[in-house]
Amino acid sequence: MARILGIETSCDETSASVLSGSGDDVKLESLVILSQDVHKVFGGVVPEIASRAHLTSIVPVVSRALADAGTTLDDIDAIAVTAAPGLIGALLVGVCYAKSLAFSRGIPVIGVHHMEGHLFATALEHPDAVPPFTGLLVSGGHTLLLDVEEWGKYRLLGATRDDAAGEAFDKVAKLLGLPYPGGRPIENLAREGDPARFRFTKPMVRRNDRPENADYYQFSFSGLKTAILNAVRESDDIERDKAHIARGFQDALVGSLVEKTFRAADSFGRQRVVLGGGVACNSTLVSAMQKRVDEIGATVFAPKPRLATDNAAMIARAGLFHFEKGERSGLDLNAFASQPIPGLIAA
Ligand code: KG4
Ligand code: ZN
Repeated sequence: MARILGIETSCDETSASVLSGSGDDVKLESLVILSQDVHKVFGGVVPEIASRAHLTSIVPVVSRALADAGTTLDDIDAIAVTAAPGLIGALLVGVCYAKSLAFSRGIPVIGVHHMEGHLFATALEHPDAVPPFTGLLVSGGHTLLLDVEEWGKYRLLGATRDDAAGEAFDKVAKLLGLPYPGGRPIENLAREGDPARFRFTKPMVRRNDRPENADYYQFSFSGLKTAILNAVRESDDIERDKAHIARGFQDALVGSLVEKTFRAADSFGRQRVVLGGGVACNSTLVSAMQKRVDEIGATVFAPKPRLATDNAAMIARAGLFHFEKGERSGLDLNAFASQPIPGLIAA
């Protein structure tokens, strides 16, 4: 059994968590997430402000996570920290703090890839969300479709050619005059929308419907965003059309995510589909996914919003996996704005 302190500062959440256990048998002892609301004023994350906000909150957030778990650094076996990908200045705050703490206590530090963290998040809530499974990671910066044979072995099937799914939600929200981040406001508005009023093509689905097509599993959302921009421009009453456009957009985007994920689960014969990342909060996505994979008898697992969006529990969980494999990062651990997910195997 090991007890891990997780730290996450890759974007606009300062988060710390304590987790203990071994293998897939883990207990979440605490999770503190401090969201930086300041970015709402600017309609997007301002990197320099994010770094400064992490600097002021990292110490109290970590102290609070330890206190909530009823523990101290004396009982921590290793510190796991997000080292990539993300905003470089933001990442560096977490990485430097984690290294200093680890050095001062004589315990190991383990650099974790943020997207591998998202892959582990769902298992914290659903014990059955473990390999083998088809994984769909949909966040503000990434859209990854993976076949996960076992933890640490990831077959990357598809990714986005341009915008990430969450980024598309955020950009379309802006076009519709909705607040940042745009995922939830669009989902709420779409509920009032008529699905037949605006129909947009599901990106990359129809013309890539054979496994031998290079884009069979790939995503692209920038064309859809342009179609929304045109619909907004052509509307003579945007207040009347707004909800219908939001509905049409969400149906097309979700349709593309569902179809590609279904293809992956079907091709690899997986009985579980694990969703992760902020867009996995979208209940339309979760129910449409379940409906589609019912055809092959598969089950969809989605994390609750607190674990779907950025949090340190998922970093501690991925860190525990690497810790148990004997992996350690040195004090030369650095942060990287972009980096492929570790453990990739040939597709
Ligand atoms: O994983 P995450 O918290 O941060 C990144 O690592 O990027 O994801 C944030 C993204 C944002 O783009 C946000 O608009 C989206 O998740 N999101 C949603 C919903 N809630 C958050 N997208 C669609 N529907 C939602 N309900
Ligand atoms: Zn994330």
